[in-house]
Amino acid sequence: MKYSILVSGGAGFIGSNFIHFIQYLDLDIDLVNVDLLTYAGNLQNLADLPHPERYHFHQADICEQELMEWIIRKYEINTIINFAAETHVDRSIHDPQSFIRSNINGTFSLLEAAKKIWLQENSNKVNSFRFHQISTDEVFGTLKADDPPFNEKTPYSPNSPYSASKAAADHLVIAYGKTYGLPVSVSHCTNNYGPYQFPEKLIPLMILNALEEKPLPVYGDGLQIRDWLFVEDHCRAIWDIIVKADPGDSFMVGGETNITNLQVVRYLCQFMDAHPRTSSKKPYDRLITFVDDRPGHDRRYAVDCEKIRSRLGWQPRNDLKAGLEKTIRWYLENDAWIADIRERNEYQGWLELNYANRRAQ
Ligand code: NAD
Ligand code: TYD
Repeated sequence: MKYSILVSGGAGFIGSNFIHFIQYLDLDIDLVNVDLLTYAGNLQNLADLPHPERYHFHQADICEQELMEWIIRKYEINTIINFAAETHVDRSIHDPQSFIRSNINGTFSLLEAAKKIWLQENSNKVNSFRFHQISTDEVFGTLKADDPPFNEKTPYSPNSPYSASKAAADHLVIAYGKTYGLPVSVSHCTNNYGPYQFPEKLIPLMILNALEEKPLPVYGDGLQIRDWLFVEDHCRAIWDIIVKADPGDSFMVGGETNITNLQVVRYLCQFMDAHPRTSSKKPYDRLITFVDDRPGHDRRYAVDCEKIRSRLGWQPRNDLKAGLEKTIRWYLENDAWIADIRERNEYQGWLELNYANRRAQ
C-alpha cells in the first residue's frame, strides 16, 4: 500500500528524526508535517531533506479539529503518527496548562478528525488506516530497585503533570480503538537521545554546558535510573509497528541501557575529554554539580522489550557508547543550529527559570 502519513510534531526532536528516517528509506511515501512550532519546534531540523517533493509542512495546532480534517482530506492521509506534545517534565511542573491542552485536547481533536473521515466517510477502507500514538514509559510511574521492568500489561500510574497528560491521551486513543473500532496502536518509548534534541533535556544540555565550561547540574543524588534509546532505533521501531503490528496493539521500546543519570553524565564527560574538537584541557567531570532535586522525581524507569523483539523482530542497534559518540559528534558539527537556539530569549529564559534558584548541594 502507498502510505500518506500525517506526522504531528514533526519539527520537534523525534518527529524530525522520523521524517529523515522515512525519507532515507527511499520509499514512495508522502509525509505531511503538522507542527505548531512552539519553542521546541525547529524547521532547521528539516532543512536538508533528500526528497522535498514528498514532504509538506503546515504550521498548525493539532487542537484545531476542522483544520486537521481539511489536511487529512487534502492529502488523503491514511496514517497518523502523533508525536505532537509538550514534553518536558520540568516545564510541566512550572506550567501544566499547556500540557493539558496540547497533549490531551490535541490528541482528542486528532482522534475526532480521524474518526470522522476514516470511519464515517471511508468505512470501506478502514483496514488501511492507522492512528499511532507516541507515548512514554513515564505513564507507568516509578519502579523500586528490585521491581521488574514495565511491560505492556503494567497498570498506568503517572506522577508528573507531563506523564499524567500523556496517560490521559493514551486512554483516549485506546478507548477510540475499543469503542469506535478506530485502528490504533501505542508505543511506550524510554528516554530518547540523538541529533536535533532541544538542549533543555539532560544529554544535550550537558553537552552544551560542558562546551561553555558551565556547571553540569545533576538533580538530587543523580542515582535515578533511566533507559536510554538512540532516536534512530526508536524511529525504526515506530516504522516496524506501523508496517507489521495489528491494530489495537501496544509495545515497549527501549535501548536496554539502564544506568544512573550520574553515570550518563560521567560517560559524556569521558567521551568529550577524549574528543579532539573539544577545547578543555581539564577533565569535564570537574563541572558536575549536584543541585536541588526535581519535585516528584521518578526514581527508576525500565522496560521489557520482549514483545517487540519476538513479534516484530526489532532490537536496538546502537548501544549507549555508539549512540553517545554519534550524538556528541552531531552537536560538535552543528554550531549554527546551537547558536540559533542559544540566542533565543525563550531558551535563556528557561535556563534562568529552571536553574537560577536551584541550590548546589
Ligand atoms: P519535542 O518537545 O522535541 O517536540 C514536540 C513537537 O510538538 C514540537 O515541534 C512542537 O512544536 C510540537 N507541538 C507541541 N504542541 C503542539 C500542538 N498543539 N500542535 C502541533 N504541534 C505541537 O518532543 P520529542 O522529544 O520529539 O517528543 C515527541 C513525542 O515523543 C512526544 O509525544 C513525547 O511525549 C514522546 N516521548 C519523548 C521522549 C523523549 O525522550 N524525547 C520519550 C518518551 C516519549
Ligand atoms: P530529561 O532529559 O528532562 O527527561 P525525563 O525527565 O523525561 O526523564 O531528564 C532525564 C533525567 O535527567 C531525569 O531523571 C532528570 C535528570 N536531569 C538532571 O539531573 N539535570 C538536568 O539538568 C536535567 C534537564 C535532567
